[in-house]
Amino acid sequence: MLLFSTDIDGTIYDGRDTARRFAEFWATMRERPEPSLLVYNTGRLLADVQQLLEATDLPRPDYVIAGVGTQIFDFGQNAMIGAWTDDLGTGWSFAAVERIVADSASGVERQPDECQNPFKSSWYWRNKGREDLDAIGRALSEGGLDTQVVYSSDRDLDILPAKANKGNAICWLSTWLEIPRENIIVAGDSGNDASMFLIERGRGILVANAEAALVEAAQWTDSHRASQPCADGVIEGLRTLVPYLELHEP
Ligand code: GLC
Ligand code: MG
Repeated sequence: MLLFSTDIDGTIYDGRDTARRFAEFWATMRERPEPSLLVYNTGRLLADVQQLLEATDLPRPDYVIAGVGTQIFDFGQNAMIGAWTDDLGTGWSFAAVERIVADSASGVERQPDECQNPFKSSWYWRNKGREDLDAIGRALSEGGLDTQVVYSSDRDLDILPAKANKGNAICWLSTWLEIPRENIIVAGDSGNDASMFLIERGRGILVANAEAALVEAAQWTDSHRASQPCADGVIEGLRTLVPYLELHEP
């Protein structure tokens, strides 16, 4: 069983045509002799993903990991997998995170309520570098919290419980489904995708439009750097990687 974990925005979707091309390609993956599972792994929250799926040709996934790894949804069962979130609360307080970020990150702006969830505190903070991000991380840990700071697109700042993020969530799901890490392929374009590329023994597809910070984070990983952007790059990557993938048994 192949487990394909892909970001949505900028990776398989940047408008109607990319959604359609990815859907047509994924239909051919469904016809291959070895089964594949499709997991959308996105910064959007679940309700937002569901609306997007209604409005576009994006294929129906098997699972959705939403809110940068803070929600895992079984699409076939139409149910959230609670066992994942049960574990995220250690060292975490949404209210304390909000207070510390607002006090210590000058110029930060809170994202709208519909982008927040109990385990994801999200902000806009433009053009920040490593030092600024490290300073926020320090302020949070001095506040007694066990969090991680994820930065994407030179703008989006997500504070998550230390155990969350896209990579940890897909690893947890692979264990839950008894699918070996070797059978995971990931795809992405921005900073919040980095944790997926760092999965040991997994493989990645960097679309041509991937931001520099992600390319750098993934530089020592086993990844295909696509020559084409967005969905076309993902299709190129899957066509390159899948025929040579030796799928492992659980
Ligand atoms: C999506 C989410 C936003 C988050 C960003 C980066 O755009 O809507 O809340 O900050 O992804 O993870
Ligand atoms: Mg993206």
